[in-house]
Amino acid sequence: MSSIATNEKIPNNVDLTSDKRLQRALEEWQPRFVDWWKEMGPEGFQEDQIYLRTAVSVSPDGWAHFDYVKMPDYRWGIFLTDPIKDRTIGFGDHYGKPVWQQIPGEHRNALRRLIVTQGDTEPASVEQQRLLGLTCPSLYDLRNLFQVNVEEGRHLWAMVYLLHTYFGRDGREEADGLLDRRSGADDKPRILGAFNEPCQDWLSFFMFTYFTDRDGKYQLLALSESSFDPLARTTRFMLTEEAHHMFVGETGVLRVLDRTCELMAQDPNQDARAQGGIDLPTIQRYLNRWYSVSLDLFGGEVSSNAANFFAGGLKGRAKEDRYEDHIALDQTMTLTMVKDGRLVDEAVPMRNAMNEVLRGEYIEDSQRGVDKWNRLLAERGVNFALTLPSSRFHRQSGIYAGIHFDPAGKIITEAEFNAHKNEWLPSPEDEAYVKSLMTKPVFEPGKMANWIAPPKHGIKGRPIEFEYVKRSE
Ligand SMILES: [Fe+2]
Ligand SMILES: [Fe+2]
Repeated sequence: MSSIATNEKIPNNVDLTSDKRLQRALEEWQPRFVDWWKEMGPEGFQEDQIYLRTAVSVSPDGWAHFDYVKMPDYRWGIFLTDPIKDRTIGFGDHYGKPVWQQIPGEHRNALRRLIVTQGDTEPASVEQQRLLGLTCPSLYDLRNLFQVNVEEGRHLWAMVYLLHTYFGRDGREEADGLLDRRSGADDKPRILGAFNEPCQDWLSFFMFTYFTDRDGKYQLLALSESSFDPLARTTRFMLTEEAHHMFVGETGVLRVLDRTCELMAQDPNQDARAQGGIDLPTIQRYLNRWYSVSLDLFGGEVSSNAANFFAGGLKGRAKEDRYEDHIALDQTMTLTMVKDGRLVDEAVPMRNAMNEVLRGEYIEDSQRGVDKWNRLLAERGVNFALTLPSSRFHRQSGIYAGIHFDPAGKIITEAEFNAHKNEWLPSPEDEAYVKSLMTKPVFEPGKMANWIAPPKHGIKGRPIEFEYVKRSE
């Protein structure tokens, strides 16, 4: 087990003191990160004491420590899972050879691009969510928001560690760039589309943590197969933290649905909005939006980049072990393409379809939570089921971009799409309504906003009415 230095300026299990140059470079980056956090992190709560978990080791039985901490004092550390002895490359052209501890020259640019793209999403999500605390539905939710935020900050650290350690001067410049771009900015936006979409209400936050953080899970699973061993070990530990983010999303949506059912039952017309709740069709529209923008994050359905990443051993499939053929040279995948305005199935070389392989896994995984949500609706006797729209619906990148589809995946005209747009995606009225429910924060311990049910359990065995955030004023 690697030794852990938690008392140093930068907590780590990578023996940072043994490399003075690297240590100095990261200690110079640290105050810039904290400045970024103060400027772009959660607005208005930086002086409060938050009951947070902090990663202190990578041991499966107890890697986290829970206590009150002010967010700017959070101990953002660098943690890699322990190396696997004699690990060999699990896929692609170099299959079976030893994994790399340094980056081979020919893969330097591609790996840098993968790491920067992943790294960019981490601070981006903090920026997207920075105003949400001001309208929190409870202290429990406020704490969960901040937990997600500080851990996305740590994920940024994880990527910056790799950039500083393995990419020399280019890496240091990229690390600075990660603090310079801003979500939604015109001049220096974040790299990926979904991370420039505003996330200004809590229904969006729960959909984001369910669907967009889940894209993160699959990207991390694919990177944790990488032949570049430090990247594999870094992303493996990030996955441990990621699980909680998706839990926040899944249970968040479930609690909204729970409350909606309750309010519908109280209303003579089963009208949740009349009772100050969020109606089911609106929840479906938010789902459609966040699911479709998250699907875009997997990249093009047919992609020579994906083929090169796989061939080079840089980015594999999620849980590559499960597959029998790790070379994937003679296989094809059937994709539904659009030819002359019609849908036709076409076989694509498997390596070129790797993004689609990962997206397929993601879709299956996404469905699991939707099934749980629907079980709750059925238990409550509500005749409504949420559905994932077709993966062709509302896509901004890949082979379906620029063509219009209905949620079932049928090709339609632009006029048809526009005529139904407000049934399928949140309308400006929906957004205004959802926001109107969330104009004030709920700070009283144990209290919930009217539109959401309380959680089943508190955090780390604490009761729901525990004071998860101690306000400074
Ligand atoms: Fe993350
Ligand atoms: Fe996350």
